[in-house]
Amino acid sequence: MADQPNAWGDFPRLHDKYPDLGTGPVPTEPYHSQAHFELERDLIFRKSWLIVGRVEEIPNPGDYLAMDIEVARSAILIVRGRDGEVGAFYNQCSHRGSKVVRSGTGSCKLFQCPFHGWIYNLDGSLRGIPDEKGYFDLDKAGLSLTPLAADVWSGFIFVNFDPQPAESLSEFLGAFGTDIGDYPFGAFADNMAEWRVELNCNWKIFKDAFQEGFHLPFLHHRTLGGIYSNSSNPFNYVLDCKLYPRHHSMSQPGADRPIEPTGLMKIARDFGAPEAQHAASLQANEDHAFSYTPGTNWTRNPRWDVDLHAIFPNITMNTFAAGRYLINIIWPLSLDRTLWIARSYSPKPRTAGERFSFEFNKVFLRDILIEDGSTVEGTHAAIRSGAKQTMPLHEQEIMVRHDRKVIEDHVGFYRDREAPRG
Ligand code: FES
Ligand SMILES: [Fe+2]
Repeated sequence: MADQPNAWGDFPRLHDKYPDLGTGPVPTEPYHSQAHFELERDLIFRKSWLIVGRVEEIPNPGDYLAMDIEVARSAILIVRGRDGEVGAFYNQCSHRGSKVVRSGTGSCKLFQCPFHGWIYNLDGSLRGIPDEKGYFDLDKAGLSLTPLAADVWSGFIFVNFDPQPAESLSEFLGAFGTDIGDYPFGAFADNMAEWRVELNCNWKIFKDAFQEGFHLPFLHHRTLGGIYSNSSNPFNYVLDCKLYPRHHSMSQPGADRPIEPTGLMKIARDFGAPEAQHAASLQANEDHAFSYTPGTNWTRNPRWDVDLHAIFPNITMNTFAAGRYLINIIWPLSLDRTLWIARSYSPKPRTAGERFSFEFNKVFLRDILIEDGSTVEGTHAAIRSGAKQTMPLHEQEIMVRHDRKVIEDHVGFYRDREAPRG
């Protein structure tokens, strides 16, 4: 243990690794400015690769996902083509603009618009038009569904609203994609719990809540108290962080003296799969010195419990040592409305005990997520006054600081004027 990098009690000063990031207060205006939000819409959400689903959701040719992406003012359609490849289109009929399919999931051999019956192939090409002779000089080859850039990384389907994306998905993800890409995301695809919540807050306020673990001893003391922090690590410091050009990761240890679970938590741990042990408390165990990929537990610390990742612009993800992961897909609906989609993936229960454990952990996670959601609306209601123009950030809030910088680099809100300095 003594030879472990970042061993227990040896927490690194995160900002020392990234001196160019600075340490000053950051402006609050980007959380409540409509002008800033419009720049985010045009220069981030209409230019970046965005996760819209997983390949397991559309396993067979003809399977599709249709959804509205409010921040891009678009309805989109993700389709598994006859060739097995994933494609994406605007879900907008070339006739008078009706959605070709209603939002949701489904499977079909062809798409037929419900309004006047135009028919499209799975590759988006126009196949047929009822009463075609009644139209004038149609160029059918030019009336396909409008394609959208789409690509897949580790089973996650991304789209990009830029007609000519400046970067490929692989370039956009960069070293982060290489470091995390081999995590077994697909192994848990058949056992997912999902929550969808609309929140009255700016999307960045919500995202920030998942970009640091420093709040655990306070906001989560009823649920996670003692599991991560105790007198040895009272403020839940992390083992290390990695800042990529746009994305970032933190590696989080469990407590050095695990609490002894009682009641249902004890039953869940005793009879459940490994994730039950996580929920109850991870025992210090040399097995946890392992890593799934170069981007998980990269300090190889035996007390590693979970990594916190953020994929720019609107994804946070937790990869747990106990073999499961949580992803938050954070969609801005407007400046002050956010759709939060939380998906928790874990191994499918094989026994009644594992089933009990799974259900317990689902409820346990729900309670933690409710705690996370509980502050964000109040924060937005308070911060929008502009009474405080800046906020100081803690050493452990480096991913929040990095995110503010990356967003400013994209939108240039303060490029031609001075940012408030507190
Ligand atoms: S709008 Fe689709 S067929 Fe008319
Ligand atoms: Fe939290």
